[in-house]
Amino acid sequence: MYNDLEKILFTAEEITEKVKGAADWLDKKYSAAQSMPLAVCVLKGSVFFFCDLVRAMRTPVQLDFMTISSYGNGTVSSGKIKIVSDLAASVDGRDVIIIEDIVDTGRTLAGLKRLLFSRGAKSVACVVLADKPSRRETDVNADYRCFTVGDEFIVGYGLDYAQKYRNLPCIGVLKDEIYR
Ligand code: PRP
Repeated sequence: MYNDLEKILFTAEEITEKVKGAADWLDKKYSAAQSMPLAVCVLKGSVFFFCDLVRAMRTPVQLDFMTISSYGNGTVSSGKIKIVSDLAASVDGRDVIIIEDIVDTGRTLAGLKRLLFSRGAKSVACVVLADKPSRRETDVNADYRCFTVGDEFIVGYGLDYAQKYRNLPCIGVLKDEIYR
């Protein structure tokens, strides 16, 4: 897998450091919460970020999972949110934390926030591993971002190209020739 990378952007150690910062931010934000927040893992890309992040937190959180797909096997967002598998828990009256691997056009996050509020969520906060602000097509933003990246195709630590590279422990830029 490493041979397909143009460069490593963030090492596993740098990611761990940023995840700790995100956990501290969440701990502060929810320290006075009256009920346990619901942490939502947006599968599949967020799987490692979610697991590391909730384990770095001191605040108790309920865990839930949702599979949303927007890209298919390409590199450009289709703009549609497809709920492949839904949450098990009700979000009605809950503080919800969306844990995402990447915000690109923002359509997934915008659609998901809309959905959660329509289901009665009391509050929705989003923590994202990698933010690509230059690609935004909506006015939605994460409440906390670990890394801001340029318009590069990044893979690893959950992020894929055609379902590959998710299990790289670092985040790297994929060589053009792999996906062109
Ligand atoms: C990716 C990512 C976000 C979304 C961001 O999901 O995990 O959910 O795209 O893109 P957007 O801001 O343009 O909407 P993807 O559909 O690739 O599924 P995956 O998590 O299984 O990789």
